[in-house]
Amino acid sequence: MFCGIVGFTGKNYQSAPILLKGLQKLEYRGYDSAGLFVSDQALGTDQLVKENGRVSELEKLVSSKNVTGNAGIAHTRWATHGVPSVNNAHPHVSADGRFYLVHNGVIENYIELKENYLKNVEFHSDTDTEVAVQLIDKFVKDGLTTFEALKKLISLLDNNSAYGFLLMDREEPERMYVAKQKSPLLIGIGSDFNVVTSDAVAMLDQTHDFIELHDGEIAIVDPDNVQLFAANGDAISREAFHLDIDATETDKGAYPFYMLKEIDEQPVVIRQLISRYLPKDGQPQIGEGIVKDMLAADRIYIIAAGTSYHAGLVGARLFERWAGIPTEVHVSSEFAYEQPLLSEKPFFIFLSQSGETADSREVLQNINAQGFKSLTLTNVEKSTLWREATYALPLLAGPEIAVASTKAYVAQVTLQAILAYALADREQLHLNLEQELSKIAIAIQGIIDDKEQLQEVAKNLLVESPNAFFIGRGIDSTVVLEAALKLKEISYVQTEGFAAGELKHGTLALIEEDTPVIAIMTQPRLAGLVRGNLAETQARGSKTYTIVTQKIATEEDDLVLPDVNELLTPLVSVVPAQLLAYYTSLERGLDVDHPRNLAKSVTVQ
Ligand code: G6P
Repeated sequence: MFCGIVGFTGKNYQSAPILLKGLQKLEYRGYDSAGLFVSDQALGTDQLVKENGRVSELEKLVSSKNVTGNAGIAHTRWATHGVPSVNNAHPHVSADGRFYLVHNGVIENYIELKENYLKNVEFHSDTDTEVAVQLIDKFVKDGLTTFEALKKLISLLDNNSAYGFLLMDREEPERMYVAKQKSPLLIGIGSDFNVVTSDAVAMLDQTHDFIELHDGEIAIVDPDNVQLFAANGDAISREAFHLDIDATETDKGAYPFYMLKEIDEQPVVIRQLISRYLPKDGQPQIGEGIVKDMLAADRIYIIAAGTSYHAGLVGARLFERWAGIPTEVHVSSEFAYEQPLLSEKPFFIFLSQSGETADSREVLQNINAQGFKSLTLTNVEKSTLWREATYALPLLAGPEIAVASTKAYVAQVTLQAILAYALADREQLHLNLEQELSKIAIAIQGIIDDKEQLQEVAKNLLVESPNAFFIGRGIDSTVVLEAALKLKEISYVQTEGFAAGELKHGTLALIEEDTPVIAIMTQPRLAGLVRGNLAETQARGSKTYTIVTQKIATEEDDLVLPDVNELLTPLVSVVPAQLLAYYTSLERGLDVDHPRNLAKSVTVQ
């Protein structure tokens, strides 16, 4: 599972409301079911509450019961092993009710462990997590302490397994045991309490000071103390870091959905990137080491997944055309297991909103082992990909909560443009990037200010349609992939985006009366060809919509965007596509921020 985890322990606190609030903030990580276990040191009582569906359902159930307690653990689930159900929801409990465990990740060898150690134990769920908690119980019954039992459990998990474990023992009602491997977990430090969370945003109301836990480590967290241990059991110490994020950035305020808020924030994100990376007379400031190592490379490899991969497709053209460095873009889940032949002096760029995508991390670990240098561009400072790369730069997009990524794409393209600009011979380029990006921020604002017209287009063109197509050529052939992904993931309209020239090689067979075909055209040299392709679909009955730049616009075009530098047009043309997706989902009555079956941060492979 790549679920959300929070835990809290403090003297004189009620932990349930804190845990529920944390879970709400983590819902983007999974929302099939949720649960919590809370124990009350003073009363000597405890309670386990689990519910199918969203965190709000769990909240209702908790408020219908009298759940009190100063310490507790909680979880929101994205199902991998076993269907979403109350039984499969976490926390899982050992047979005699002593141990409670929440888990993020996948235990690959759980069936083998079950057969080897737990033959006679009755199971109540289909999860790998229940196997883990039953094993702890067994090892404690065999004479180990809880800490030793957790250590032993970890030693039995195979190398491919991933876990963020948060464990409570009824015999130590204020204590949390924590362990992690490949799955993010942080310990948050308070004055008279401590917390554990899989993502800092969930606990920002409580603290801004966090200790990272590294792979293989274990922690014991009490209200007034945190103990860290290396994998071999030796005590270690690590300073907390301070996270400078305003907790209100993670609220959606007056917006109906985070996605709309995040689309609206895009001009601000570009301005933040300008002021951080192009501060003085528009001269790029990104660190000498990065520039030196990138210029020494004979090829750049961009590694990413999902929307970040689409941002990489734009980046590749920027590095090639502006900096003259050959660049390849790879989907991380493929590169991890089929590494292509590399050039002599490769340099790797990891693009990741979350900094936690498991497939991308797999690649980073592989290339680290081969001794290659890398740079991570991520929205989450101190995330795994941030820590493990040679260099890291923040995307400065602010927390992105909606599952469908919007502002992270814009930030990734913008930052890659700044990097390519820093590597370029700027006199030859004849471009003032600072001015160009400012113009782009204004262009995006213009689209956002006029967004209601896109709501009408969504209603007339997409809401009733079972399918849709986006086409484009050149740089637009990359942005149509992102446009299609946005629409399909939140509206469930089956959508394909592809290079317009490919239409005739298969997809044209799918065009019927009223099939929506949306063309993005931003480059004069290719517009004629795309118009030709569009006409071919019209001849077969399609309903078309064109998104074009000013310099190629005709009376017939539907949405006209201001002209900007050709390679940067995706920053502008993606915005109407994001809004079309948003409004189609909204008009279909769907939960825009939480599309079915998906999660924001994919920490399993
Ligand atoms: C998930 C998210 C996408 C994201 C992708 C890669 O699928 O829903 O929005 O693009 O993961 O995530 P990353 O955090 O590495 O950018």
